[in-house]
Amino acid sequence: MWCNHSKRGACDDATGCVHVTLVRLIKFPSGSRRICRSRSPKLQDSYKRAMQHLKHCQGLAQVFLIRSQSSRLSKSVIPSLSVWDGHFSCRWRSTGGHGRQKYFNDRLPKFRFALAGLLAGTGAVLAYKLHQDKVQLAATSAQLRVTQTSDLPVYTLEEVTKHRSLDSGVWVTYKGGVYDITEFVAIHPGGDKILLAAGGALEPYWALYAVHQQDHVLEILSEYKIGVLNPESYKKQESANPSDPYSAEPTRHPALQINTLKPFNAEPPASILSDNYITPSVIFFKRNHLPVPRVDPEAYRLEIEGLSGGVVSLSLSELKSRFPKHTITATLQCAGNRRSEMNKVKQVKGLNWGIAAISNATWSGARLRDVLLYYGFGTEVAAKAKHLQFEGLDKDVTGTAYGASIPLNKAVSEEGDVLLAYEMNGEDLPPDHGYPVRVVVPGVVGARNVKWLGKIVVSDEESKSHWQQNDYKGFSPGTDWDTVDFKSAPAIQELPIQSAITHPAEGTSVDRSDREVTVKGYAWSGGGREVVRVDVSVDGGKTWHVAKLRTSDQGQHPAPPPPPGRAWAWKLWEIDVPIPHRAQELEIVCKAVDSGYNMQPDTVAPIWNLRGVLSNAWHRVKVKVSEGFKDQK
Ligand code: MTE
Repeated sequence: MWCNHSKRGACDDATGCVHVTLVRLIKFPSGSRRICRSRSPKLQDSYKRAMQHLKHCQGLAQVFLIRSQSSRLSKSVIPSLSVWDGHFSCRWRSTGGHGRQKYFNDRLPKFRFALAGLLAGTGAVLAYKLHQDKVQLAATSAQLRVTQTSDLPVYTLEEVTKHRSLDSGVWVTYKGGVYDITEFVAIHPGGDKILLAAGGALEPYWALYAVHQQDHVLEILSEYKIGVLNPESYKKQESANPSDPYSAEPTRHPALQINTLKPFNAEPPASILSDNYITPSVIFFKRNHLPVPRVDPEAYRLEIEGLSGGVVSLSLSELKSRFPKHTITATLQCAGNRRSEMNKVKQVKGLNWGIAAISNATWSGARLRDVLLYYGFGTEVAAKAKHLQFEGLDKDVTGTAYGASIPLNKAVSEEGDVLLAYEMNGEDLPPDHGYPVRVVVPGVVGARNVKWLGKIVVSDEESKSHWQQNDYKGFSPGTDWDTVDFKSAPAIQELPIQSAITHPAEGTSVDRSDREVTVKGYAWSGGGREVVRVDVSVDGGKTWHVAKLRTSDQGQHPAPPPPPGRAWAWKLWEIDVPIPHRAQELEIVCKAVDSGYNMQPDTVAPIWNLRGVLSNAWHRVKVKVSEGFKDQK
């Protein structure tokens, strides 16, 4: 199957068609009808590398797309598909003059090929095209354009159902259209999970992985259209469609800045993050890979495997009544916090978090150590086991649960303070934060703090979950999607020292007549290392001032100093710094120091990594100095 433009001579034809839909560039297995049309070895090579990159994204699919564009471009402009920064992009080579070049430069973002991604299984939610669209993108289903196809064959549902394997062909339906996607299966980056929809409707799966609902996906799909459903079949199918798996999501606070709606990922505005030492649960950042499971507390059971007495099945009331309740104050931070700063250096793959994918709460529950000891953890088990695996009750369509693991030492050590938490800030855990039980692993990256905890396995191995094995790992700035080997890097556990400025905000003004600027922020370090100092500069790092640290809300007693190695909570900090004479603009910078004298790196580039994790460079905010409005009044 060729696109029209391909038939006419492809990429450099007279229309300047940028019609580089992926299918056209693919070298399919022999015997396939679609082959790579391009004779350019560079193009072929780019494609191969692109596919390699996408193959890293196992788990629930990523549908990547290449935007089809037809525009009036010069013959001399030769588009080529390349992998750039882990994304597909369209590179333009122009032999034209300056004006034309400018035209292309202006248009380039529009032609950027979106790598629309995610699937809940990957945890690697891709940054969609231009981030400024994010809320709108999340909140609305794309207006999907379905090609008019009145002249195409009409099929019944029964005929479609017969095509559910590679042998018989893989057909799917979407909004009354019938698509033969047999050849797309091989290049679906989410692998054969696409076969779940074989012989039936795509809608239920796209409802779960809502990222598919974008124009680009439809454009790719339209390449495979072979017919339409007869009206009866379409009606039947529509009435049988299950409801949106996200329809029972909890209500959320309107202040949250939404990164993706389905699954729900959001952070509070930075300006209010440091207003409270204990972050109110409603604005605590939320990081979900899948729909929030609704768990009946009466029916809830936590299973524990790998202890000497066999499998344990623990009810919520047993967890609450059998073990003493402990409370800790602990900060959770997503590995991707401040990823947006890495994106400014070079595009990375993942949700474009600002500085507020971090929050601080009190957590109450049973100590994991107490529970394990009660059910038979002892030297015999300890001799064999090295890890504690956790499984959530949130599952993808294949029944695969969110999972992660932590080293056994952390779980059983008295100083580890790992909780099977059932309360957050003095109340039942909210649905978004793991109701009825989550594990809180203080000092450790958010990803290991498994919510809606369903199972614990004491094991000699790490969790096999995608999020433990192929995600949430750090790499060199020199490692790209062609060369990355996830097995070569350890899973992130303890996080490095971190700090950021929450006030003033980037791009705002301070008044010179105030003589001083008040700077506020947070600081935290992983592994229980206490933040011992925060340095603040208003001249880009030439001169420094030491901020005041606080461990409570205004008017409350400061928390007592934590025992060494058990500083799980952040410190908020504040300082009034004189505005330098004659400065027109301030570059405000903060950097924190922890009890191990670990400090943040000064710039992002040397710590850049393809997943955009562990982003902890000095935080910088630029503000203008306005001239004494107050004096003039
Ligand atoms: N647990 C389950 N079951 N499912 C998830 O999607 N997300 C993890 C972790 N635990 C997740 C999970 C990630 S990546 C983070 S950063 C934290 O939960 C976020 O916790 P929060 O939503 O309570 O802030």
